[in-house]
Amino acid sequence: MSDPKVLILMGSESDFTAMRPCIEVLEEFEIANEVTVASAHRTPHVVERLARDAQGRGIQVIICAAGMSAHLAGVVAAYTILPVIGVPMEAAALKGLDALYSIVQMPGGIPVACMGIGKHGGKNAAYQSIQILALSDPELREKLFAYRDELSDKVAAMDRRVQEQLGRD
Ligand code: RP5
Repeated sequence: MSDPKVLILMGSESDFTAMRPCIEVLEEFEIANEVTVASAHRTPHVVERLARDAQGRGIQVIICAAGMSAHLAGVVAAYTILPVIGVPMEAAALKGLDALYSIVQMPGGIPVACMGIGKHGGKNAAYQSIQILALSDPELREKLFAYRDELSDKVAAMDRRVQEQLGRD
């Protein structure tokens, strides 16, 4: 694969399962990506280096997945002007609400785009990244339109099945 365009940071190995769908979506769209475990509180120096160096390495979007008091996305956003997308992980007692609140409520000036909790949030982080990359990539735009058409076809097929089961045409 060519140089990574999307950098995915995860606060822990325990976030990997929920973030697999995110990586899979990027792979489907053939978006070169890099995945790294780096923790804002356990390896802050690594997070700082990755965030500072990202733009110079050609990264265009950074996705940060973290659970509990999830400060990873905010810390990364502090070191870069690249778009940062945060994904709250469902960990521990508060079922991801703790992480959601931590990520979504950035003080004005240093934005983080916050997705939903868990694997659906991870998937959407990938699609959001692809939409950002598509702003300057017409081929990618076409792939996104084709994907949206596929989704529409699937819903139309669902409707046909329901109508059949109801005996209505
Ligand atoms: C965060 O704390 C990680 O992003 C993870 O979601 C959560 C728990 O981490 P582990 O104790 O599983 O390493 O830093």
